Order: sequence, then C-alpha cells, then structure tokens
Amino acid sequence: MHSISPIIPLPEAAQTPVGSEVYIGLTSRPKTLSPWLFYDEEGSRLFERITELPEYYLTRTERDIFAKHGDEILAAASGDRSGRQLTMIELGAGTAAKTGLLLEAAVRRQGQVDYLAIDVSESPLILAKERIERELPTVTVTPRVADYTTGVADFPANGKRRMVLYIGSSIGNFEPPLAVNLLRDVRAHLSPGDRLLLGVDRVKDRSVLLHAYDDESGVTGAFNKNVLERINRELGGNFNTRLFRHRARWNEEQSRIEMHLESLIRQHVIVRALDLEVRLGRGETIHTENSYKYTREGVVNILARAGFCLTRCWTDEREWFGVYLATAGSRGVGWWGGDRGREWQRRLTPDVISAFAAGFLFETDFADDDSLVQSLAHVIDGKRGDGGGGEGFHLNARWSCG
Ligand SMILES: C[S@@+](CC[C@H](N)C(=O)[O-])C[C@H]1O[C@@H](n2cnc3c(N)ncnc32)[C@H](O)[C@@H]1O
Repeated sequence: MHSISPIIPLPEAAQTPVGSEVYIGLTSRPKTLSPWLFYDEEGSRLFERITELPEYYLTRTERDIFAKHGDEILAAASGDRSGRQLTMIELGAGTAAKTGLLLEAAVRRQGQVDYLAIDVSESPLILAKERIERELPTVTVTPRVADYTTGVADFPANGKRRMVLYIGSSIGNFEPPLAVNLLRDVRAHLSPGDRLLLGVDRVKDRSVLLHAYDDESGVTGAFNKNVLERINRELGGNFNTRLFRHRARWNEEQSRIEMHLESLIRQHVIVRALDLEVRLGRGETIHTENSYKYTREGVVNILARAGFCLTRCWTDEREWFGVYLATAGSRGVGWWGGDRGREWQRRLTPDVISAFAAGFLFETDFADDDSLVQSLAHVIDGKRGDGGGGEGFHLNARWSCG
C-alpha cells in the first residue's frame, strides 16, 4: 500500500516570481538560482561595474563593433532598396549604454525612432530613458518592466519594420534548446521580414574566458554573491556570504562558462518567507549562471531552428564577439545551388535540416541544384514547390561573416 502524504500549501512568498524561482532552485539537486535573479537594483549597479573591468572584454568589444559598423547595421536592417523605417525593441536592455550607438545611427537614417526597452529590473530602464531622451530628443523610449522568459508580450505594430535587439551575449545564459524556444517566441511576435540583432560571445581561449568571469578586483564575485544578499533582503534569508566562494569554470563539453557559489563549510541556511531550510555540504555549489559560447555555425543553427535566417554578421579583429542580423522567415518555397550551394550542403546539420522541415523560408540567390534538393528530399517530403511561393523550402545561401 502506498501512503499518501498530506499536501502542504507553499507559503505565499513561494508564489511570487522571485520566491518560486528561489524555492525551486534551492530545493533542486544540484542547487541552482536563475541568472535573472542577479538583477535587483544592486545587481544592476554591479553589472555596470563589470562592463568597465579590463578583463570583461564582452561589452567593450560589442560596443566597438557598434561604433564601427552602426550605420552599416542600420542600413542592412532597414534594407538598402526599400529603406524601411525601423522600430527598435530591446530584450534585457539594462541601461542601454551600447544601444545608444545604434539609436544614434537610426536617428541619422530616419530622424524619429521609437524604442521599446524591456527589462526585469526597473532602475536601469529609468536611467536609460532619461539619458537617451536627453541625448537623442527624436527618440521616444518606452520602458517595460517584464520577464521575457515567461513570454514576450506584443511588440508595437505601427507599420514600421521591427528590429529586436538581443545583445550583450544574454542568449548565452540559456541552454541551446531553451535559447531556440526563446527565439521562437520572439519570432512568433514578428512578421516576415522583421529583424533580430543578436550579440553573441564566441568560443575562445579558456584563460581569456575564465578571467572575464573571475576578475582580479572581485566585482564579479560580489555580483554573484549579491543573489544571496537579495534573498536575505527580499525573502528573509540568513545567508552569510563570507561562507561562500565565487567560482567560475569552463565546461569544455558544453562550451560554457559556469558560475557557482561554493559553500566553504557544512551549513544550514533559513529562508524565512519560504519556510525553507537549505542544507549545504562543504564544497557543494549553487549553480548561478551559464554563459554559452558559440561558433558562428552554432548561431546559424539556433537561428534557423527558431525561424530566422542569417542576413549578415559583423565581428571584431580578434573574432571574439559576433553581432548577427537575422530576418524573420516565413513559409515559402525555393531551392538553391551552384558552388555556394554545395559548400552549404556540407554545413547542413540535422538541426538545420529539421528547421527546413518546419517549413521556414530561407532566401536564395542561387540557381537550382538538384543534388541539394535530392539530399533534402527525405525531409521535404513532397512539399517541394517550384520556387515561386507556396509550401516548401527556401534556403539562405548567404554566409558573410568573418
Ligand atoms: C548581461 S545584462 C545586458 C545588458 C545590456 N543589454 C548590455 O548588453 O549591456 C542583462 C540584462 O538583462 C536583464 N534581464 C536578465 N534576465 C531577464 C529576463 N528574464 N527578462 C528581462 N530582462 C532580463 C537584466 O536585468 C540586465 O539588465
């Protein structure tokens, strides 16, 4: 006979977004805390300090790409021929410091710009609105406090082409299948031809990566430990942050940097509002962040699976960071071939092929290539059309990065 345990209702605080995330994370094995929990007011302030650290190349490198190529990015996004006006939407905008460079380029191109800035943390959005509207009076900033992982709410539909910015390597916080789900959700709120600008950190030397997430001056450590302070402040926790060590690890197999908080002793911690006692062994860690590092093939892959095709990309001299402009695809038909077609064929992975199977449209510049069509025949499964519309496949043969 099975004994039936009584159902004990969770405390009210465990039903708030922060409370439920902390409850689930600290009762899981291994223990985890989601990276969005870093960003209360103090965490957002510490993140701004991280962006200025000599070891943290990410912000500086992406900013340099925007400074050098901002006009080109905006021209490519609005489309050279039609020159459509753009509305800009940013996920996890923070203080939008780098975005200012893209907004300046947009103002040079089209004069007035609407910019929707989405973030879980309100304080940086207030700073962003105040600064941008002062420096660029023809930009209208609409701040929206929201968690984009619970579904992006509607984007403005004002007849202009929309460009969603998801920069700062934030996509790296998600395991690749979850990154695809997030981008699919973004795609579902866009129309064919709308754009996505994705800023992604690249795989590189291990020691460069480790220093970026474990700086000499300890700011990243303070940022990591702030999540425990936040639990103390908001949920009545009694974490003693001196009993934890900040750890950054490179996980080669998964191609990701991991951040952990390692318990220095065996300890019990109470989180009063959640009625929760957390037991930690000596050396046990709470896993607080993943930061996946991508090759450009990896980026093309997740874009394709989410229904976007790569339009163009830009990188820095060391090829440490990539900025990818992608276009929301639609269902359609076509094929592609020639020498470039054969080159692509070699790059096709099962994941990309399954995106084709999902029927997304990919643009083509090339003539028909029977061998490619044949190699895809098993997934195309009778949906192949005549290249002029209807259901089927259409591959994007552009590969213009680095
Ligand atoms: C790494 S910072 C990047 C900020 C800025 N985009 C940049 O490139 O410098 C991540 C930002 O995303 C916000 N954020 C993190 N998770 C989020 C979520 N699930 N929903 C909305 N905003 C989120 C944080 O508050 C923070 O401002």
